[in-house]
Amino acid sequence: MHVLITGGAGFIGSNLVAYHIKKGDKVHVIDDLSTGRIENISLFLEHLNFKFDEANILIWQDLEKAVAWADRIYHMAAVVGVFRVLKEPISVLATNIAGCERLLRVLHNTDWNTKLIIASSSEVYGNRLENELLNEDMELHISPGHNSRWNYSISKLADEAFALSYARQYNINVTVIRFFNVIGPNQTGKYGMVVPRFVQQTVREQDITIYGDGTQQRAFLDVRDAMIYLDLLAENPLSRAEIVNVGTAREMTINQLAHAIKEYSQSSSNITYTSYEDAYGKGFDEIYHRKPDLAKLLRLTNHLPKWALEETLLDLIHHEQKKEL
Ligand SMILES: NC(=O)c1ccc[n+]([C@@H]2O[C@H](COP(=O)([O-])OP(=O)(O)OC[C@H]3O[C@@H](n4cnc5c(N)ncnc54)[C@H](O)[C@@H]3O)[C@@H](O)[C@H]2O)c1
Repeated sequence: MHVLITGGAGFIGSNLVAYHIKKGDKVHVIDDLSTGRIENISLFLEHLNFKFDEANILIWQDLEKAVAWADRIYHMAAVVGVFRVLKEPISVLATNIAGCERLLRVLHNTDWNTKLIIASSSEVYGNRLENELLNEDMELHISPGHNSRWNYSISKLADEAFALSYARQYNINVTVIRFFNVIGPNQTGKYGMVVPRFVQQTVREQDITIYGDGTQQRAFLDVRDAMIYLDLLAENPLSRAEIVNVGTAREMTINQLAHAIKEYSQSSSNITYTSYEDAYGKGFDEIYHRKPDLAKLLRLTNHLPKWALEETLLDLIHHEQKKEL
C-alpha cells in the first residue's frame, strides 16, 4: 500500500511512519518541520520504502502527484499545542483550514478512491461537566472571541465541515478522527503537552510544574493503540464520512498523573503549581473534563486498548532516562 502522511515528522505522524514501514507499506511524508523534527524520522530516511519532502502543505507544488500516488492519506499537519496556538492565533486558523481544504480539493481532482483520514481534536467539545460522556453527535461548546485558544477548535471544526461536505458533495472517502489525549514516543513538551513535560522534569530531577490546581482531568491513549485504531478505521467502509472519537475512557486528574510519573521514575522532584495566567497569560480558559464516548469507535474497530497507562508511562520514562545518559 502507498501511504502519504502530512505532518509525518510530528508525534503522531512519525509513529504512523514506523507503523506502516513495519507493515511493508511505502510511505511518503511531507512536513515543514515547524513543530515536527527530522530526528523523529531519521531511522527511515535511507529506507527504500520511505520518502521525505520538507514542504509547506499550503504551497507545495508536488501535492497533486503525491495524492495521485497514495492509496491512503493521513492528514496530521496542523499548528498544534496550547503555547503555539496562543502565540500564533492567525496561523492556526489559516494553516489548519487552508491545508485541509487544499488536500480535499486536490483529492477531489484526482481520479482515485483514496482513503483520507483527517485529524480533528477533542478540543471541539469545549468545556463540559464532570462525567459527561462526549459523543460525536452532541452539540459543541465554543467561545469564539473570548480567547484565542478557541481558534484551534474553530479550525478543527472547519476541517470537519469541509471533510463531511466533500464526502457528501463529491463522495470523497474520508473519516474524521477526534483525537483525545494521545501519548507516546516523539511527543514534545515544548508546546504545552503535559506528559512529555512531566516525564522530562522527573527524569532531570526538576520541579514538576502543574498548571492550575491539578484537578483538571484527562484520559491518555497510548499512540500504539491509536495506530491500530486508525488502521482499522481506514479499512472499515462503514467509517466513511463519519466523525469518530479516538481515545480512552480512563480519566485521571493532572495531580494523579504528576504523582504517578514521580513514583514510576523514583524521582525526588517536587510537585509545584503555576497559575494559568503565569503559564499561558491573561484570560486562559481551561477545559476541565474530557471523557470520550467510545461506543462508535468500538463498533467500528472492535478493538480495546492494549496498553495500560502504567506501561506507557514506564516506557516513556525509560526512554527519557536513556536519552539523558
Ligand atoms: N497528540 C494529540 O494528543 C492530539 C490530540 C488532538 C488532536 N491532534 C491532532 O493530530 C494531528 C497530529 O498531532 P501531533 O500531536 O502529532 O502534533 P505535531 O505538532 O507533532 O504534528 C504536526 C506536524 O505537522 C507539521 N506541520 C505543521 N504545519 C505544516 C504545514 N503547513 N505544512 C506541512 N507540515 C506542517 C509539523 O511540523 C508537525 O510535524 C494534528 O492535526 C493535531 O491537531 C493530536
